[in-house]
Amino acid sequence: MNNRPLKRYSYRIIANDFMVAGKGSSSIKSNLKSLGIDATIIRRIAIISYEAEMNIVIHSFGGKIHCDIYENKIVLISEDTGPGIKDVDLAMTEGYSTATESVRELGFGAGMGLPNMKKYSDNFEITTGSEGTRITVTVYL
Ligand SMILES: Nc1ncnc2c1ncn2[C@@H]1O[C@H](COP(=O)(O)OP(=O)(O)OP(=O)(O)O)[C@@H](O)[C@H]1O
Ligand SMILES: [Mg+2]
Repeated sequence: MNNRPLKRYSYRIIANDFMVAGKGSSSIKSNLKSLGIDATIIRRIAIISYEAEMNIVIHSFGGKIHCDIYENKIVLISEDTGPGIKDVDLAMTEGYSTATESVRELGFGAGMGLPNMKKYSDNFEITTGSEGTRITVTVYL
């Protein structure tokens, strides 16, 4: 069995850079469009990748997002170095956020990113520790 993706798009995400924040997920969106992927699937991936990207920008020291295309699914991997998530159950709770006041002034910190990523995915996994966080999300085609 060959479980390598047919295609992989990878983006480096810089911590605290609100000028370029969102560029990675908009590139993923246009790449998926050019592959002719269904618009509903693209919308779900766009939400998931944007929230993952913003979490790397806001809560980590930097990382990468990979978008892997398979015959029957899209797998989005978000990996960062950073402090990690101390309590995953709490972080998954709607409305829970550790975002600072200055980040909230930019419109982030509703505590809805992770719950929405889960909501729009078919499978959602987090591994996190004091060195960083890795989130793997699957959306079936
Ligand atoms: N990559 C990450 N590294 C470390 N902590 C994270 C990471 N992603 C999320 N968290 C923690 O989990 C909390 C909840 O994340 P979530 O994305 O749901 O909300 P938020 O980013 O605070 O606000 P919103 O996404 O609504 O703007 C964050 O406030 C933060 O404490
Ligand atoms: Mg968030």
